Amino acid sequence: MECRVKRFGVLTSGGDAPGLNAAIRALCRTAKCKYGMEAVGIFNGYRGLINGDMRILSEPDISGLIAQGGTILGTSREKPFKNPTVNEATGLLPVEAIKENYKKWNLDALVCIGGNGTNTTASLLFQSGLNVIGLPKTIDNDIEGSDVTFGFYTALDVATDAVDRIHSTACSHSRIMVVEVMGHKVGWLGLYSGISGGADAVLIPEIPYDINSVVEKIKERRNSGKNFSVIVVAEGAKSKAEALLDKKAFKKARASMHTSIGFRVAKEIEEATGLECRVTVVGYLQRSGTPSSYDRLFSTYIGSAAADFLAEEKFGNLVAVQNGIITAVPLDSVAGKTKGIPLDHPMLKTARDMGICLGE
Ligand code: F6P
Repeated sequence: MECRVKRFGVLTSGGDAPGLNAAIRALCRTAKCKYGMEAVGIFNGYRGLINGDMRILSEPDISGLIAQGGTILGTSREKPFKNPTVNEATGLLPVEAIKENYKKWNLDALVCIGGNGTNTTASLLFQSGLNVIGLPKTIDNDIEGSDVTFGFYTALDVATDAVDRIHSTACSHSRIMVVEVMGHKVGWLGLYSGISGGADAVLIPEIPYDINSVVEKIKERRNSGKNFSVIVVAEGAKSKAEALLDKKAFKKARASMHTSIGFRVAKEIEEATGLECRVTVVGYLQRSGTPSSYDRLFSTYIGSAAADFLAEEKFGNLVAVQNGIITAVPLDSVAGKTKGIPLDHPMLKTARDMGICLGE
């Protein structure tokens, strides 16, 4: 079959994640070796596409990337469809500038690697006439249509290590340790690191918490002779009262907190128990550094399949994985959605059966 895609652009957008470089490498390598395509690197996400900040990627550009963290292309959170700023020099709106640069650089297609925001923009660009495919990257694992996203398992390893390590100091000092992990509005990192790190309680956004239930768990542990407790709090966790607020009121309440949720939970526990609490925010370490072997494999699997998608002109799709198999999922079915933990997820049952308090 003759391959009509001769040249494509590739960009990474949104928060970085381990495995981005491995995916770029796999995409460009397969595209060149198998199909003879040429790759154009677009710098700093959609911003580079708007400003024409791009160049052809040569062989050395895509070498030595499999173990490298971050993204050689840089990234930004630019959202061209939400940006009404007209460029003074060209008189173009961001989306118009994107179309101009796509034409000017003779691109036959565009590969957008990113999370929910990136794939929503990718979907809109496809609808406005560009040949676009999306790749599912995020440490949050919250992209609809793909069982897993790359970056998630590396971040999970880091978060698990933090929960693991905190046990020794918690025990030495007879303290309650709160470990706050990332995950944006979902609890995948929280639940999985809580289970794999052996936490006593895990608070996630999908299950609004009642602090009394955490306090009960801590007391129960003390009564059975355990002098410390480890509580994992996902950054998006919310109380039962907050869960009743509408989006605007919730945002306002959170802004007035002036601190992240882990600190509030620690304060609530301290006030209710009189026990000493400490907070550790694992933060950006979760998305920094070299990808795990799982993420290297997974990024390579998806990146290489993306080249097939280009050759087969499967535009308007996310290169997703379902039950281990590469699957084309329409971008418009992914756009604007967030994949939280379903309330009947088997890992929630495992947590409850193991006596892990979920704040219910
Ligand atoms: O989406 C990935 C993520 O790391 C989230 O877990 C976190 O909430 C957010 O990005 C942090 O974003 P920023 O890079 O804008 O601080």
